[in-house]
Amino acid sequence: MSTDATKQTLAQLGVTTREAVEHYFGELLSEFDISTSGNIGALDLEATRLNWLGRKSGIVAEIGENWLKPAAKDLKPAVGQNLNSLKAHIEKRIADLTAAKEAAAQQSVAARDRVDLSLPGVERAIGTRHVIQQTFDELIGIFLSIGFTVVEGPEIETPYYNFEALNIPEHHPARDNMDTFYIEGARSPHLLRTHTSPMQIRAMEKQKPPVRIVVPGKVYRRDNPDATHGYMFHQIEGLAVDTDITFCDFKGTVEYFVREFLGPKVRTRLRPSYFPFTEPSAEVDASCHVCGGSGCRICKFSGWIELFGAGMVNPAVYGFVNYDPEKLSGFAFGIGVDRFAMMKYGITELPLLFQNDVRFLKQFP
Ligand code: PHE
Repeated sequence: MSTDATKQTLAQLGVTTREAVEHYFGELLSEFDISTSGNIGALDLEATRLNWLGRKSGIVAEIGENWLKPAAKDLKPAVGQNLNSLKAHIEKRIADLTAAKEAAAQQSVAARDRVDLSLPGVERAIGTRHVIQQTFDELIGIFLSIGFTVVEGPEIETPYYNFEALNIPEHHPARDNMDTFYIEGARSPHLLRTHTSPMQIRAMEKQKPPVRIVVPGKVYRRDNPDATHGYMFHQIEGLAVDTDITFCDFKGTVEYFVREFLGPKVRTRLRPSYFPFTEPSAEVDASCHVCGGSGCRICKFSGWIELFGAGMVNPAVYGFVNYDPEKLSGFAFGIGVDRFAMMKYGITELPLLFQNDVRFLKQFP
């Protein structure tokens, strides 16, 4: 329908019957309906309202002005009724659409804010103890269970504690520049400790017997790095000194420790060795925990695995700490923790332990 129709009077349009009036209103109604169909989101409801219901120039106002007012007396009631119901229809539809649009908007806000409990959460990586620390804890736990306590000492040492007081003579190769890191520019000679044994001396200087300590820590040597050597590694020193400690106590302690760590079926053997601060000295071997002693790749087909160095405290050492060598005796050992970790977890490359590659570390949760 030409919207112009609303600008003319009914008389101008040639409308003379009630049917003709209803026809014109019917046209308007469907025009309105069509204009408000379609995607509700795209509808400008305020513009539609102004267009149809606007007080001055809205279509409803226009037909009130042009159709109703000048209508012939006999048509006026029909025009009035039709106008009222058209207006009511438009108002209701606009109100309905406004409500629907608000509901849709609210729904999309709700959809955006909804918490989806099935989504994976934000994972916060939880740290774990390093495999070396885990090994430390396990080894130390065994000694704590039989009455040892833990002490720690400095990594920068004097030659006195690292060598002299441990009865390591002047000409010993361990003292060589080639084997030990000396601190440059120090006022008095200092070095990175080559073993945890200096803490034997420091502990005995500090306390009277009985002594029963283990000393975990880092030690440093000028080794060429390869699959099993680095410039730094970890040790646990052990020292037990009392008035009545015998070689039997030494052997029993060592055997207990090895069984706790490697399993009850493992056998222990002592091989003669030499350390200036123990006499006699021994290397402690365990029967191979993998093949049971019959020989395999792990034990290089010998049936035995070398574990650590140990021995009875050399009486010469007591002289450095004012202990009476006539009354006292004891044993000491020095365990290489990295070796133990590699053995326990089947790690073949020492550098892996210190590269901090999480793909490696994650394997030891
Ligand atoms: N300190 C020795 C080493 O590093 C190990 C050891 C400690 C040997 C205690 C005997 C007694 O090789």
